[in-house]
Amino acid sequence: MKLIKNICCIGAGYVGGPTMAVIAEKCPDIRITVVDKNNERISQWNNKDTSKLPIFEPGLEEIIKKVRNKNLYFSNDIDGTIANSDIIFLCVNTPTKDKGFGAGEASDLKFIESCARKVAQFSKGHTIVVEKSTLPVRTAETIKTILNSAKIVKNSNSKTFSVLSNPEFLAEGTAIQDLKSPDRVLIGGEDKISIEVLANIYQNWIPNKKIIRTNLWSSELSKLTANAFLAQRISSINSISAFCEITGGDIKEVSKAIGSDRRIGSEFLKAGPGFGGSCFKKDISNLVYLSNYFGLPEVAEYWNSVIKLNEWQKLRISKLIVQKLFGTLRGKSIAILGFAFKSDTNDTRQSASIDISKNLLEEGANLIIHDPKVTEDQIIKELGIKPHSQKLNKSTTEEEGAWIKKDTIESTLKNVDAVVILTEWSIYKEIKWEELSKSMRQPAWIFDTRSVVEKKEIKKANLNLWVIGDAEYN
Ligand code: NAD
Ligand code: UGA
Repeated sequence: MKLIKNICCIGAGYVGGPTMAVIAEKCPDIRITVVDKNNERISQWNNKDTSKLPIFEPGLEEIIKKVRNKNLYFSNDIDGTIANSDIIFLCVNTPTKDKGFGAGEASDLKFIESCARKVAQFSKGHTIVVEKSTLPVRTAETIKTILNSAKIVKNSNSKTFSVLSNPEFLAEGTAIQDLKSPDRVLIGGEDKISIEVLANIYQNWIPNKKIIRTNLWSSELSKLTANAFLAQRISSINSISAFCEITGGDIKEVSKAIGSDRRIGSEFLKAGPGFGGSCFKKDISNLVYLSNYFGLPEVAEYWNSVIKLNEWQKLRISKLIVQKLFGTLRGKSIAILGFAFKSDTNDTRQSASIDISKNLLEEGANLIIHDPKVTEDQIIKELGIKPHSQKLNKSTTEEEGAWIKKDTIESTLKNVDAVVILTEWSIYKEIKWEELSKSMRQPAWIFDTRSVVEKKEIKKANLNLWVIGDAEYN
C-alpha cells in the first residue's frame, strides 16, 4: 500500500483547520499543508500569537502550538501544494445558491468545482481526492468528470485519480474532542485500495471497528441525512416546548422522560431559540431541493417542515418578548446575551440571535449586545447596520432600533428593560441577578431561551422571568 507522505487540505475554515491539526498531531510522519485562497485567513493561522487564530475552538490553540511548522503548515501556494501531495482533502464551503435555478435551496458547488479543476491541472501521478465538504449526493460524479478531463486535455495517462467521500461530523465547540474520539469515521468509495489508504491514516488513533466503509453515494447521502435527523430532533423538541408553555408542562422534564427510552436517546433534546450554524439549514434545504429534483415532492415537504418550524420558533419568541413588554419596544433597551449560534464558538452563521435581534430592532428596541467571543465587526456583518456611536442604555434615550456591543455583563445590563439569553455560554449561568437587577429599569424581564438561569435567583431579584418550555415561567 502507498506510503502517504504529503497531504494537502484546500480550505482553512472551521473544518479544514481543526481536522488537519488533529491529523497532524496523530500522524507526525505526514506533512500536511492547509491552503486557502483567502490570504488573510492564512496569515491569521500563521499568527505567532496563537490566541488570534481565526477560529475559536476549545483545545485547538494547544495543538496548533505543538504541530504548526513541524508537520502542519498554512500556505497560500495552492498550485504548488497540490502538485506535491498524495492526498487532497476538499474542505471548502458549499453554501446555498443565492441566484438562478434552485436559489435558496440547492448547493452552490462553484468552490468544489474550481478545486477539482486545480487538482486536475496541478496534480502529479496518482492522487486521492477526498470530499470532506458536505455535498449533494452524486457530486463525486462531477468531480470525477472534471479530474478525468485532465487526461483528455493533456493527452496523458500519467495522472490518475481516486475520489473518496469522507464527510465530517464534528460539531463546533467540541470539534477537537469529536475529531479525537469520533463516534465513527465514514469512508465511501469505489476503489478499495484508496479506501484503505485513508482508513490507515485514521487508524493511527481510531479503532478500525469505528471506520465504516460504504459506496460513494451512501456516504454522501449519510452526511445530509445525519444533519437532517439532528435538526429534526431540535424542531421536534421546540414544537413541544410551545405545547408545554400552554399546557402546564416543563420541556426539561419531558426531554428527560422521553430521552430515557433507549430508542429515542437523551442527546439533542434541548429546547432553544431555534437551531443555527452554517450547516443544518443549508443541508436540509439541499435535501429538499434534491427530493424535488428526483421527483419526491412528499419527501421534500416533510424535510422542509423542519426548517419551517425552526423559523417559527424564532418568530414566536420575538413576538412574545414584544407582548410581555406591553406591546411596544420603541426606545426600550434590551440586553442580548449571546450572539454565537451556540456556546464555545465564535461562529455566528445562521445564529438565532441574528433573526431575533433583527425582529426586536424592527420593533424599535435598542439592543445592548454581549458575547464573550464574537467581535463587533462580525455583528455588523450579520445585522447589516453599524453600531450606534453613543451609549444606548442610558436612563432616557430618543434612539430607536440601534445597537451597541459591550464587553462586560455588568455594563450590558445597565438600565435595560429586558434581558434575552440566546446563547448558553457558561458565564451566563453565573450571573449575580440580585446584584445586577438594581441597575436595570423596573419592571424588568428575563427571557431565557436556553433555560440556563437559576430560577430561584431571579425570583429573589424580583425580576419577571420567562423560560423556554416552562409553563411556570410564562
Ligand atoms: P468555511 O467557510 O469556514 O471555510 C471554507 C474555506 O474554504 C474558506 O476559508 C474559503 O476561503 C476556502 N475556499 C473556498 N473556495 C476555495 C478555493 N477554490 N481554493 C481555496 N480555498 C477556498 O467553511 P467550513 O465551516 O469549514 O465548512 C466547509 C465544509 O464542511 C462545508 O461543506 C460544510 O458544510 C462542511 N462541514 C462544516 C462543519 C462545521 O462545523 N462548520 C462540520 C461538518 C461539515
Ligand atoms: C452540526 C452537527 O451536530 C455536526 O455533527 C455536523 O458535522 C455539523 O452540524 C455540520 O455539518 O456542520 P454544529 O452545527 O456545529 O454541528 O453544532 P450543533 O451542536 O449540532 O448545534 C447546532 C444548533 O442546534 C445550535 O444552534 C445549537 O444551539 C442547537 N441545538 C443543539 C439545540 O437547540 N438543541 C440541542 O439539543 C442541540
